[in-house]
Amino acid sequence: MTSDDQKRLAAEAALAFLPEGGVIGVGTGSTVNHFIRALATRRDAITGAVSSSEQSTKLLQSVGIEVLDLNEVAELAIYVDGADEATQTLSLIKGGGAALTREKIVAAVAQRFICIVDESKLVPQLGAFPLPVEVIPMARSFVARELVKLGGHPVYRQGVITDNGNVILDVHGLSITDPESLETTITMLTGVVTCGLFARRGADVLIIGTPRGVERLDR
Ligand code: 5RP
Repeated sequence: MTSDDQKRLAAEAALAFLPEGGVIGVGTGSTVNHFIRALATRRDAITGAVSSSEQSTKLLQSVGIEVLDLNEVAELAIYVDGADEATQTLSLIKGGGAALTREKIVAAVAQRFICIVDESKLVPQLGAFPLPVEVIPMARSFVARELVKLGGHPVYRQGVITDNGNVILDVHGLSITDPESLETTITMLTGVVTCGLFARRGADVLIIGTPRGVERLDR
């Protein structure tokens, strides 16, 4: 079974968490694309969706799901999104698709964060995947120097501008033993919009597609 098949399995399993009516949050990436296509078969179950990226907005609209502005929505029962890495304690690295800031905002609003991944994303410790950090463009070099002081090797993601008009530094070589503390430290650096650590608000449910079927971890 390919990793894409595993992503599809996890995405389809997330349909079980759909609320009865209301608006849901939808993330970004290839696993979420499977979720959106599966959601299209159940679109009457929800009022609409808040999207974490222009890319997901287009796909949602193309399958007939209304996309709402987060400012018009008082609550989201669930947020469904993928991850680049996940631990058994449901801390995540996200942002491989450069949508980390909007993803973190929508996750913050949602009552339950349902994370959908293939088996390769489950790791004993975060950090083999370079940590994405969204940075205000004029602060790029300053933030890069500060990240070096934290033991990382930041690499400017050339040619990528986020939906918010910012740039991404991918930080290699971090040993992430305390994800919550590192999330706080990096987020506090002047010029950083946010980082791809989702530890202070990690997932509530992790659905893992595997060759043996779907497995689930709960917070
Ligand atoms: C985008 C993300 C994605 O959730 C993450 O990159 C996983 O992507 P995929 O489902 O394509 O493996 O954080 O910013």
